[in-house]
Amino acid sequence: MQQNPIPSVKKASDLRIPFIWKERRPVLLERFLYVPNHYDRHDAWTAVPWTDPSIFGNDQPVVLECCSGNGQWICERAKNYPLINWVAVDIRFDRSRKTWLRMHRENLSNLYIMCGDANDLIRFYIPKRSLTEIFVNFPDPWPKLRHAKHRLIQARFLTQMAEVSLPGALATFVTDDETYAGQVLRELDACSIWRPRLPPPYYALDWPDYGTSYFADLWKKKGRKIHFIPYSL
Ligand SMILES: C[S@@+](CC[C@H](N)C(=O)[O-])C[C@H]1O[C@@H](n2cnc3c(N)ncnc32)[C@H](O)[C@@H]1O
Repeated sequence: MQQNPIPSVKKASDLRIPFIWKERRPVLLERFLYVPNHYDRHDAWTAVPWTDPSIFGNDQPVVLECCSGNGQWICERAKNYPLINWVAVDIRFDRSRKTWLRMHRENLSNLYIMCGDANDLIRFYIPKRSLTEIFVNFPDPWPKLRHAKHRLIQARFLTQMAEVSLPGALATFVTDDETYAGQVLRELDACSIWRPRLPPPYYALDWPDYGTSYFADLWKKKGRKIHFIPYSL
């Protein structure tokens, strides 16, 4: 692993948003891409290939985690699987910079962080046909009907996931919310691009060695069942 490129990194707040709001734009710095919300020029960005020296600088397989939160799960993966490149996607800057802090503390040169709405990132910022695997870990279920439009797993997103994936790619959806698990399964069935990797009911309630995260621990402590939903192209 390469040495920490920012020796002075000590705390998450060392990373700041690199512009004032009225000058907001996507900025890629130190393997952290910041893509602002309420921004309408995404189409002006050209997706940077993973092999570019500003990202991984090599052609190892690339695996994406959507909804990476504070990065516990993906940093553990990046440490344990150094021959894979890992990409963390989360909309919240406060959480993404905790991932950034872990990345620097643990010298993870095979991790890249994209902070922004996964819908924008997958459409404009992630190179087409470039991922071997996608994990969507504990996406917000938005249970109220009037918030349904915010749910990440919808037909358009599933299609865009397929567009950035290589043939045969894997996709795993994980949720503690039984109703949302049912909705995810219905969306997957309706879009018919992704195929189940498990027999009916197409999910497992246990996945040894999956790894853990802040919300995985929280929901397990509360006795919720975790649904693991593995599909592939
Ligand atoms: C329940 S948390 C799970 C975080 C992490 N996977 C864990 O298990 O600790 C859901 C995460 O999804 C992120 N998120 C919600 N909507 C998103 C979107 N449209 N694009 C990217 N991230 C999103 C939130 O910021 C939050 O960190």
